[in-house]
Amino acid sequence: MSQSLTELFTQQFNAQADHLIRAPGRVNLIGEHTDYNDGFVLPCAIDFATHVAIGKNGSDTVRVFAADYDERDEFSIHGDIVHSDKQWANYIRGVIWAFAERNGFRLPEGVDIAVSGNVPQGAGLSSSAALEVGVGKALQTTFSLPIDETEIALLGQFAENRFVGCNCGIMDQLTSARGEEGHAILIDCRELTAQTVSIPDSLSIMIIHSHVKRGLVGSEYNTRREQCETAAKHFGVKALRDVTLAQFDAGKAGLDVLATKRGRYIVQENQRTLDATDAMKRNDIAALSKLMAESHIGMRDEFEITHPAVDTLVELVGEVIGERGGVRMTGGGFGGCIVALVPHEEVDNVKAHVAKHYHARTGLTEEVFVCKPRQGVSVIK
Ligand code: GLA
Repeated sequence: MSQSLTELFTQQFNAQADHLIRAPGRVNLIGEHTDYNDGFVLPCAIDFATHVAIGKNGSDTVRVFAADYDERDEFSIHGDIVHSDKQWANYIRGVIWAFAERNGFRLPEGVDIAVSGNVPQGAGLSSSAALEVGVGKALQTTFSLPIDETEIALLGQFAENRFVGCNCGIMDQLTSARGEEGHAILIDCRELTAQTVSIPDSLSIMIIHSHVKRGLVGSEYNTRREQCETAAKHFGVKALRDVTLAQFDAGKAGLDVLATKRGRYIVQENQRTLDATDAMKRNDIAALSKLMAESHIGMRDEFEITHPAVDTLVELVGEVIGERGGVRMTGGGFGGCIVALVPHEEVDNVKAHVAKHYHARTGLTEEVFVCKPRQGVSVIK
């Protein structure tokens, strides 16, 4: 695919690309919605990725070709960068805008950019973060800018928050930027530090797409975030990261019912993420299994971001793996994927069990991916 993207670049722009970048999607093993509460997350970058080919063009125009849509976007490097009516184009415009707004870097000349990706969209596997990080790395490489992978992630988040309009946390961009081959990473979303964590050798990472059509994702996401902020304010702390479960229960009187449910889930999920990291380090799969199960129940009953079909998928996988692996919904929620850590020898049994019952119970058809943890963003050429 990377080969043909540089060929498409040449066809579109009649020039050779200077650089080719690969930025992966991610799957989160545990720690959902904790990132914007300054907490902990445990994701890994995955095989699916977005490729970005880039070259300076000597003009004062940015020209972009989205190979997957066979569409183009074009805008001037002078004046304000405004929104496009094409959603995909706004991620790229947004990153170029973020470089100027956040870092004071305005393009000194135009660039040509071609993008293509295979991260499933709307699946909760961060196709948009992969695009943002890919474009950020492409600009950093092209103009030899003195910024690191963490800043590239922050620029992607800035674009998403302020240009695209989703108030996401830092997990997706930071994982795409700083993922480690063969490992999960425990990210401290306040300090922006990442520790590599080995996934037990006996387990495969299975991602199963529920194919639930996601609706209202943006607005529900932003509402959850506001509820968490209300809870943090109630406790007089910067973020829910700063509250323990004991403090939460002792001080929750006066907090409204929804903010209590949401906040209590976050406080617990944060601790579960640290506990799951320890369990992985000890190779204690039964403990990991329990923590992932509790995480799913919390998302279902307290944070209320799952969907009945997604719950069914989690139950079906659980029926096969029991305590020998873990399973939960992954990503922002309201549909999308589940993630399961499955003993290698059970992968086919999980596939067969889900194939037999998921469609029958929900009318939907699953899609299964078995992934390996991959390196974060890289310059291929
Ligand atoms: C989306 C956001 C992330 C994170 C997850 C939930 O993927 O982009 O920042 O909040 O949802 O864990």
